[in-house]
Amino acid sequence: EKDGYPSFMEKEIHDQPEAVLQTLLGRSDIDGRLTLDEMRIDPEELKKIDKIIVLACGTSAYAGHVAKYAIETWCRIPTEVELAHEFRYREPIITPTTLVVSLSQSGETMDTLMAVRYAREQGARTMAICNTNGSTIPRESDAVLYTHAGPEIAVASTKAFLAQIVAAYLLGLYLAQLRGNKFQGEIKDILADLNKIPAKIQSVLDNADPIRELARSMKDADSVLFLGRHVGFPVALEGALKLKEIAYIHAEGFAAGELKHGPIALIEEGQPVFIVVPSPRGRDSLHAKVVSNIQEVRARGARTFVIAEEGDEAVKAYAEEVFFIPETQPLLAPLLATVPLQIFAAALAGAKGYDVDQPRNLAKSVTVE
Ligand code: F6R
Repeated sequence: EKDGYPSFMEKEIHDQPEAVLQTLLGRSDIDGRLTLDEMRIDPEELKKIDKIIVLACGTSAYAGHVAKYAIETWCRIPTEVELAHEFRYREPIITPTTLVVSLSQSGETMDTLMAVRYAREQGARTMAICNTNGSTIPRESDAVLYTHAGPEIAVASTKAFLAQIVAAYLLGLYLAQLRGNKFQGEIKDILADLNKIPAKIQSVLDNADPIRELARSMKDADSVLFLGRHVGFPVALEGALKLKEIAYIHAEGFAAGELKHGPIALIEEGQPVFIVVPSPRGRDSLHAKVVSNIQEVRARGARTFVIAEEGDEAVKAYAEEVFFIPETQPLLAPLLATVPLQIFAAALAGAKGYDVDQPRNLAKSVTVE
């Protein structure tokens, strides 16, 4: 069942090209027109949506954070991401033109289910992005967009995360198409780039030995920090969560711009810091700003491990080690940049002799509040 991998988690990390491919399959025509047949919400209603609230927990919430950047860029619809358990206990503003999108691998997470129920009661349109056919959250939602990642067995989520990002992106493109926010040509180009992602993930997987080696050398680390900016910020949060969950190492993710507002005080000699660097071809100055963050932590003694785009030679001078990912457009980079961090966590936990698939204190599906 594990296809020769030492754990389900390793297998599922390697399933990711297929998970992305399956989630894209059959959802657009050759002209780049999105055809989300499963969408049970009237297109006329979707045209009127003026606010999106994404609800989820844990890794799924980080997928939501990534999606927010894309949806706001493509659709110009204000999008909030909120932890499901927080949402329900305040007085959220929901109207009939609010679309509530839940993200859940299992479709059974009680916190998310209760938040979706609450949103429905308040009159929102609800849509589930879910990996489990026929599970409770999609059954209780107005619409569902399934991720086709296949069953995820390891407790720590990997392939479901990438598939959730892809599905949320398809939703964003669909809304942009419906509302005429984007030219069909642009949508087609983004879809074409999405279709190239599986092969690019495969190349990250094929070149992962150096990150595994680094992980094995770091099994005595007692704290690892992760920095990112823009879509790299939720990637940093996800990298930190993976390490906490399965390697039981204190790990935190920060928005790189937040460093000087506090977290930089944590940096001392030898502190390992991963930095997710945006493409140098992306929004001007973002790359330079993150590079200067690398310099800042390095000047204070941090060991800097950098995830950067192939060809980004500028980062080399400041990094103890660089792990390159293939080029893609900035909004799609999380689908690649997350992968080395997953591999790092799995390899480190493995090196410590832990059960990577069944970490202590955690259950695959949290069906209690
Ligand atoms: C992290 C992890 C959890 C889940 C969270 C939500 O690796 O597995 O943080 O992401 O419990 O679960 P779902 O997506 O099933 O609602």
